[in-house]
Parts: sequence; C-alpha cells; structure tokens
Amino acid sequence: MNDITHDLRFSPLAADDETTVGQWLRLLADTAGDVPEAAPPCTADMTGSLRFPPPATKLEDWVVRHDGHGGRVVGALRLALPDGADVARLDQLLVHPELRRRGIGRALYGRAVDIAAGHGRAALSATVVEALPGGPARDPGPAAFAAAMGAERSAVPAGVHQWLDLDAHDPLADGVPVVPEGYSLVTWGTITPDEYAVRVSVLEQSLGDENFDEDQEVETSYAREFETMRVGRGRRAYHTGVVHEASGRLAGYTSVSKTTGNPSYALQGMTVVHRAHRGHRLGRLLKLANLEYVVRHEPGVRLVETANAEDNTAMIAVNASLGYVPYDRWVFWTGAVGSGD
Ligand code: ACO
Repeated sequence: MNDITHDLRFSPLAADDETTVGQWLRLLADTAGDVPEAAPPCTADMTGSLRFPPPATKLEDWVVRHDGHGGRVVGALRLALPDGADVARLDQLLVHPELRRRGIGRALYGRAVDIAAGHGRAALSATVVEALPGGPARDPGPAAFAAAMGAERSAVPAGVHQWLDLDAHDPLADGVPVVPEGYSLVTWGTITPDEYAVRVSVLEQSLGDENFDEDQEVETSYAREFETMRVGRGRRAYHTGVVHEASGRLAGYTSVSKTTGNPSYALQGMTVVHRAHRGHRLGRLLKLANLEYVVRHEPGVRLVETANAEDNTAMIAVNASLGYVPYDRWVFWTGAVGSGD
C-alpha cells in the first residue's frame, strides 16, 4: 500500500464554491459505477442537496484534496445529523477509484468521527450495499472497510433494495383495481394540498400508528419540509392518497419522486395506510393507481426503485406482486464515536 494521507487537505464543501462543487460532481460521476444499475448522479439533485437538507436534519459536507493530484478533490464525506439523535449518519464516504487502498478512506472516517464528536454524537451509522443470496454480485470492499474501521453490523433489519423494470413487466396490464366501498382516491403532485399536509406528516412520522381521534399538534409540518427539500433538489413528486369517506380523513398515501436529470428513473418512496384502514388491499391499490399517475405524466419512466426493511414482509410481497425484483441489501453498520479522550 502506498499511503498518501500526509498530502491530504480537508475542507468543508460550500454550496457556493463552484469550482469545488464541480470537482465533487466529477468525483460522484467517476464513482457511479460502484453500484451497478443505480441511476447516474443528477447534477441538479446533488447540487440542490448541498442547500436543502432532509427535514429536521443538518448536513456536514466535506471534501478531501490531494496535493499530488493537482490539489483536486479525491474523496468526499457527508454526515447527516438528525435533530435530537445521538447518532450521526454517514450518508457518503467516497474515495476516487484510482486512489483506493492508500488510506484516504480511513482518513475520511477519522474526520467523520471528529465531526460527529463535535456535534455531541455517540455513534456513526452507515448503510453498506451487500449482495443478496442469488442476487447480482456486489463489491465486498465497503463491508471490509467498515469492519476495518471498527464498525459493526447493526441488529436493525437490513433494507431490501428492489427494482421494477417496466420494459420487462407491466403491472398496469390489468388496469388499476376497483376502489373499495367507503373510500375514494385523490392525487397531488410535488406540493401537498393544505388539507392533507398535517395528516401526511402524521402518517409519515408515525407509519400509520397514530391515533386519528386525538387532535394532533404539529408545529412544523414534516410534509412541508420534505417538499422544500424536493423542490430545492429539482425533484418532482407524484402522490395518490386514499380518503375514508365517512370521516373525510386521509387514510393513507403513497409517494413516487424523480430527479430532473434521469427521465427514465423514479423512486418509489413512502407508502403508508393507517392501521384502522388496513386489510382492504389499499397499499397495493395506492401503488398501482400512483404508478398509472406517474407514467401518464412521465412517460419516459422505465425503472422504479424502492427499498423496504427485510422484516416488512407485507410490503415486499405487495412489491413482488407488482413485478419488483430484489437486487441487493442495504445493511446498517454502526461505529462508536468515543469520548475523544
Ligand atoms: N477490500 C478489503 N478491505 C478493504 C477494502 C477492500 N476493497 N477497502 C478498504 N479495506 C479495508 C482494509 O483493511 C484497509 O486497510 P489496508 O489497505 O491497510 O488493508 C482499510 O479498509 C482502510 O482502507 P483505505 O485505504 O483507507 O480505504 P479507501 O481509501 O480505499 O476507501 C472506501 C474505502 C471508502 C470503501 C472506497 O472503496 C469507496 O469509496 N467505495 C465506494 C463507496 C463506499 O462504499 N463507501 C463506504 C461505505 S461504508 C462506511 O461508510 C462505513
């Protein structure tokens, strides 16, 4: 190994530093092959992500330059710091493919630990892509790296990452199922209508377990923060909701979004049905109705990706019935931050 860490220079990545942002985007493009089949990085999405964090989360973006490579960006780090949590999430830890196994990853990880400690976090968490039994091969390097950093596989169930290829399978061939009696469907785009904003926030944050009979005091609407992030990143979203007609309340919804740069890719996000309304196949109905809504407005969409916790067998079964195919696992790792003594 040729250790080059003595020539590394770290700096925060500022959204208005065009030169550095350009080099960072190049690094993202150069490493896009790390996860085959993934959508290529979208410039609007990635630059937008520097200014528009997820709801209730602060981001720390850093780059590392190497003097021997014209001072260019050779690695990057993104730490997500959710409000009130004792964990810092490593959303990105990336080294240029030509400069791996020279200690840059270790140096970035050390920097991540320092930043996390500076924010009073006790642990780092990271998601590592691993192969599924019988699935396509995945680079075992990231898991080996995480283990070498002293991190450990978390007990939290892994995510199963699935793709729907609309050229291989059309789940809409038989149309959208009939809406059960007592319910009706509504649709909306990127911006949630005022009448649903609080309900969407409560459903999303409680995963449908919140008691509808209690008046919710939601001071900051999660839905509004989420859509601010989406708009800032140039993403468009499509939603279908199901309204319980007797109460007039939103009983569930599903969300698909897409970036501006990748017309053929979409992301199936949250689907939630309140527990009082489960058992009517509303989840499957929502997904199919929303897919029809998406392809009507975005006919270029051919590939839809999604992920579910591997113990969420109900949703994985719904996805299988729609033609989603599991590709790989997103395994959670955690590492101690330590006291800094
Ligand atoms: N296979 C086996 N072990 C590895 C590998 C590998 N491909 N890569 C790193 N390691 C282990 C080794 O023990 C290594 O020490 P050694 O070279 O003395 O044997 C140790 O990790 C440190 O390696 P670095 O040289 O510091 O790591 P590198 O600069 O190559 O970066 C990284 C590693 C970040 C995983 C890089 O391959 C990469 O960018 N991959 C794509 C993105 C990614 O998967 N990020 C990591 C997610 S996991 C996490 O964040 C905790």
